[in-house]
Amino acid sequence: MRKILINGGNFLYGNVEISGMKNAALPVIYATILANDVCILENIPTVSDVTLSLEILTDMGAKVRRINSTSVEIDTSCLAPVTPSADLVSRIRASTYLLGACLGRFGKAAVPYPGGCDIGPRPLNFHMEAFKKLGADVSNDNGMFTADAPDGLRGSMISLEIPSVGATVNSILAAVFASGTTIIHNAAREPHIIDLAGFLNNCGADIRGAGTNVIKVVGVKSLHGTSYKILPDMIEAGTYMVAAAACGGMVNICSVVPKHLEAISARLIDMGVGVEAGGDRITVTSNGFLKATDIKTGFYPGFPTDMHPQFAVLLAMAKGVSTITDSVFDNRFKYADQLEKMNANVKVSGNTAIFVGCDLKAAPVVAPDLRAGAALVIAGLAADGVTEISNVELIERGYVNIINKLRALGADIVMRVEPDAVATPSVG
Ligand code: EPU
Repeated sequence: MRKILINGGNFLYGNVEISGMKNAALPVIYATILANDVCILENIPTVSDVTLSLEILTDMGAKVRRINSTSVEIDTSCLAPVTPSADLVSRIRASTYLLGACLGRFGKAAVPYPGGCDIGPRPLNFHMEAFKKLGADVSNDNGMFTADAPDGLRGSMISLEIPSVGATVNSILAAVFASGTTIIHNAAREPHIIDLAGFLNNCGADIRGAGTNVIKVVGVKSLHGTSYKILPDMIEAGTYMVAAAACGGMVNICSVVPKHLEAISARLIDMGVGVEAGGDRITVTSNGFLKATDIKTGFYPGFPTDMHPQFAVLLAMAKGVSTITDSVFDNRFKYADQLEKMNANVKVSGNTAIFVGCDLKAAPVVAPDLRAGAALVIAGLAADGVTEISNVELIERGYVNIINKLRALGADIVMRVEPDAVATPSVG
């Protein structure tokens, strides 16, 4: 068993290099299925969700070759229309993108129920409705989602009830080869969608409007391989911005797109933190003194739900009463019990958490999911004493080299490997 140990209280100074965006890399990896050719993807983050996705493609017959730590070559020409392993698929959310990609390429898809962080109900009804609009027969039986279009898909009008990232990705993937034109209304506007469309257009697709709420996909007959570089991870960047704000010091967040970080920067500035953007970097300056504020998550370009738990740590420390309301996921508050162990004064009521600021104290805590785990790392960095975090593998789903990146900024943080408990045979 591995645990993260943090001796809190150090200021953070220096530069941190941001890796490629997990939530952009994942749809692009599954989109290589449509290319039916060799693709080279650069700036791929080495996180476990990516590794698992590459394993899923390999299991289905693709040839995957690591070129170096951030580049990968994927040849999907041998990928077969087989049902992927339920064991692999059930460990990540992004495996749902197999539905759109396989439906688009083979006219049929069967995918066991996906996994992912337990942050509230995550149905696939909008995905399935979109496939139906494109002419597929869909079902959800015996732990398996299926979509079938033996006579091919037809372009159509898809109106999403809410701008779901996953449903937008799957609608695009399925529409690339659909005959005629597909218009997706109320599409997600996240940079991940821009990356997916950028990759597919490089492969020969005709997708316009990505980054706006209306996306037009004109069906094409085939795609070809390409090389593509993934955008930097706005959530990883935001996490280091919050760490700098919580600990105090001055940190340059390097290789980012400052525009993607506007909502995060604005909230930090509200709290009295210095944020300056220039070129592809953002400098965060903090003396550790934080003002109370009220935050509400929303769809991009609103405040990202994936930054909710990290900001919760700042609100727990800020002088006065603060609130955070999550309007995207119901159950993003699992950090609350853990922060309480660290002396935080937090009460969750419906989809709002209310904080009365205080000093955090070290405690043994358990990461309940990816972003809440990152939040506990930040809490440990800012707390007095030695914090011990277990369930480290959840944090590794989305953060590349988090220990080394924080150590380079001056944090006193290590990974401790403990022998797994050996089961004692029962007697009698
Ligand atoms: N929703 C439905 N029906 C659907 C699809 C979504 O009701 O068919 C609801 C969800 O229940 C949720 C809301 O719509 O309340 C938004 O869900 P969305 O589909 O946008 O989320 P997702 O595609 O499942 C992705 C990211 C999440 C991120 C959300 C929101 C990936 C692999 N996951 O999830 O990332 O929180 O968008 O931005 O891209 C993370 O990285 O920690 C993470 C959880």
